[in-house]
Amino acid sequence: MRKIVENFTVISNEACNLTNFHITLQSDHPLAEVFPGQFTNIEIPDNKDVFLRRPFSIFEVNNENRTISVLVKVLGRGSLTLSEVRTGSRLSLIYPLGKGFTLPAPDERILAVGGGSGVAPVLHLVRYAEANPGSADVILGAKSETEHLNAIDSYGKYAGLHYTTDDGTMGVKGLVTDHPLFGDLARYDRIYACGPLPMMKAVAREAFRAGVSCEVSLENLMACGFGVCLCCIEPTVKGNLCVCTEGPVFNINDLKW
Ligand SMILES: Cc1cc2nc3c(=O)[nH]c(=O)nc-3n(C[C@H](O)[C@H](O)[C@H](O)COP(=O)(O)OP(=O)(O)OC[C@H]3O[C@@H](n4cnc5c(N)ncnc54)[C@H](O)[C@@H]3O)c2cc1C
Ligand code: FES
Repeated sequence: MRKIVENFTVISNEACNLTNFHITLQSDHPLAEVFPGQFTNIEIPDNKDVFLRRPFSIFEVNNENRTISVLVKVLGRGSLTLSEVRTGSRLSLIYPLGKGFTLPAPDERILAVGGGSGVAPVLHLVRYAEANPGSADVILGAKSETEHLNAIDSYGKYAGLHYTTDDGTMGVKGLVTDHPLFGDLARYDRIYACGPLPMMKAVAREAFRAGVSCEVSLENLMACGFGVCLCCIEPTVKGNLCVCTEGPVFNINDLKW
């Protein structure tokens, strides 16, 4: 798939909570098709200390308005600078990068699990697949209610939305795998997950036990984003693979977890 390097205009940057920002970017041209799980590598503006682009999953796509959006969690210098971009700024993006999730067939039941910034690709998936609450469930996990993102309630039309928090302030208390939906995974045809590594490993373990097909989207450290620097290698049963080109989405059967 052709990768595009292009300057986008920031048309909004809204705080979702204290540390997460929803940035919407508009292209001057019709968008390339973006599949759920694909990402963009964004050049960090006005910060001489950060010279490498930073990868972010593509969250929402609106072809009519020529916009894509990303959810940015502030972790270090690059994401902090991005969280401060103003409407009207121009950002250089390379997109669409990587290989996305296997899309479910219309009659398949799916469970999508997102933790932290991992909610972006799983919500993109249920929307892109035009899922509905009868066929799709989403479990979103966070440490506390204050870390859950606002403005995702609209996804209730695509899936049953379920929440877990470590401290019990929202939804089920505990990890995503403590949610009662994990008690009967066999009802699903496919499970998808993106989030912190321990969370994805726990989801993968349960899916493997239940014999349900499961894909995870890895967030290994990256530099180039298109297979040149080899800094994002993941050992797999097919050898060492670049997460940026052979992933970020992998079937758990291919990973050496
Ligand atoms: C394919 C892909 C999709 C991603 N999607 C999103 C997304 O939708 N939203 C989002 O907020 N973040 C996402 N990330 C993570 C994001 O790229 C990093 O948080 C960001 O690059 C950190 O840059 P920084 O300059 O702020 O932090 P740095 O100063 O580079 O690092 C700060 C701290 O964060 C850690 N860190 C940096 N990168 C990562 C990473 N990839 N995973 C875990 N820890 C990391 C560093 O080890 C360090 O401890 C994604 C990463 C990948 C590879
Ligand atoms: S980030 Fe450079 S090869 Fe993957």
